[in-house]
Amino acid sequence: MSFETILTHLENGIFTITINRPDKLNALNQKVFEELNLAMDEVERNSDIRSVLITGAGAKSFVAGADITEFNSLTKQGAMDLSARGQATFARLEQSSKPVIAAVNGFALGGGCELAMSCHFRLASDNAKFGQPEVNLGLVPGYGGTQRLVQLIGKGKAMELLMTAGMLNAQEALSAGLVNYVTTPEELLPKAKELLQLINSKAPRAIAGCIKAANAVFDEKADGYAVEVAEFGNAFDTQDRVEGTTAFLEKRKAEFRNN
Ligand code: COA
Repeated sequence: MSFETILTHLENGIFTITINRPDKLNALNQKVFEELNLAMDEVERNSDIRSVLITGAGAKSFVAGADITEFNSLTKQGAMDLSARGQATFARLEQSSKPVIAAVNGFALGGGCELAMSCHFRLASDNAKFGQPEVNLGLVPGYGGTQRLVQLIGKGKAMELLMTAGMLNAQEALSAGLVNYVTTPEELLPKAKELLQLINSKAPRAIAGCIKAANAVFDEKADGYAVEVAEFGNAFDTQDRVEGTTAFLEKRKAEFRNN
């Protein structure tokens, strides 16, 4: 697949999406959103893709926010449409039945922090910086930042960051639970891929069930326990469940086939 603003690469079941505007610190313009949606179409369509890794091009930035140059021509309605479209794109990542993780290789500000937070979990290199600096622009985060930051680090710390435009460095993000691992820049992608290989060795239907049930915690319209019951049943009804339980009883490693 060939794009203008992102790079994609499929290897060993891991589909890497690299936001590729390094001269603009990978700021998210409308073309990036269009292409992210096309990449997610491919994730949903292509059964060779088992999981997704999102990162940014260059050594300095994951994504330094929405592309501010696109803002001044917008009307109020245009701004609301932009926000709703961004939210819808990031919801596709969050609700993907295949694992999506972010390897944060530098600045993750504004829309970049929101992109990372819409992934299922995050790793950061030790030069990463996280924040929602929208109030510096007289703005409010528009791509889910007010919601997911509270979910991930708690209301008090999130309120402080939202109101002060403060940043968390990688270690602070680790302590706050915003990222699961901090690595050197060189170790970031290998560590992310190691985790995804481990996840890819499990039964895909079971992984999808875990994602759906855990997401239901934050969905007011869903009964998370009922979702868990349904997903337990769905996983139970697969050949992979038969293989998993049989392999355990036979004291061998399970060979999952996504069936
Ligand atoms: N939108 C558009 N362009 C951006 C951008 C954004 N969010 N963030 C960075 N850029 C561009 C800069 O304008 C600059 O372009 P230029 O070389 O054509 O002038 C280029 O990326 C490099 O950025 P620069 O500001 O020179 O790098 P820096 O190392 O001095 O500062 C940051 C890095 C991240 C602190 C700074 O770029 C910044 O504050 N960016 C905006 C962050 C933000 O407010 N995000 C939320 C948006 S809603």
